Amino acid sequence: MSAKIAPSILAADFGHLASEVESINQHADMLHVDIMDGHFVPNLSLGMPVVRALRRHSNLPFDCHLMMTNPDAYLVELAAAGATIVTMHIEAIPDPTEAAAKARDLELGFGLVINPGTPFGAVLPFVELCDLVVVMSVEPGHGGQTFIDEVLREVEAARNFIDSEGLGADIEIDGGITTVTAPRARSAGVDIFVAGTSVFGEVNRGDAIENLRKAIT
Ligand code: DX5
Ligand code: ZN
Repeated sequence: MSAKIAPSILAADFGHLASEVESINQHADMLHVDIMDGHFVPNLSLGMPVVRALRRHSNLPFDCHLMMTNPDAYLVELAAAGATIVTMHIEAIPDPTEAAAKARDLELGFGLVINPGTPFGAVLPFVELCDLVVVMSVEPGHGGQTFIDEVLREVEAARNFIDSEGLGADIEIDGGITTVTAPRARSAGVDIFVAGTSVFGEVNRGDAIENLRKAIT
């Protein structure tokens, strides 16, 4: 599929979230919303009221990345708040079968995430339940970190498996994406590129997104 860009709101100015999301509405393919619980990851970010508020300022699909323990407990509220896709960490929910079914019932897209130290094999039995497989290219919890090249092996493993089995899941990469790292990830088989600092850290968001697109086409 053609590559998609999902700017991460985590790198935006939280004092001006409405205008921040409006600055990417015409340029991005999705909005990546990082939700952290201070337990699964050593940081807090935002929750349901912010998702609901952002929804009033954007028609983009909201790709909600749940960095939390018990992610399935929040699906009803997330759906009501305006989430489009929810992704949860296999490290937090070793058997995501019921959570995937619950997401489907709520008409949410569903995805599974692996941390940099987790092999693709950990999610392989569940890929048929997924719209998205997300490979973290930094340790989750903070924006602005350096891309970990080793995870590209897991991207390649995911690409081979999804293609050879004829499955429909897209592959997303999250962390340290720039015009330098994105082409390497694209070659390994990534479809969707989360970009925090390299979009919201730039003054002109349209140009920043366009530059990422050019780098991967
Ligand atoms: C990290 C988050 C990422 C982060 C990416 O825990 O999951 O989505 O916002 O930020 P950058 O693009 O700055 O690495
Ligand atoms: Zn994320």
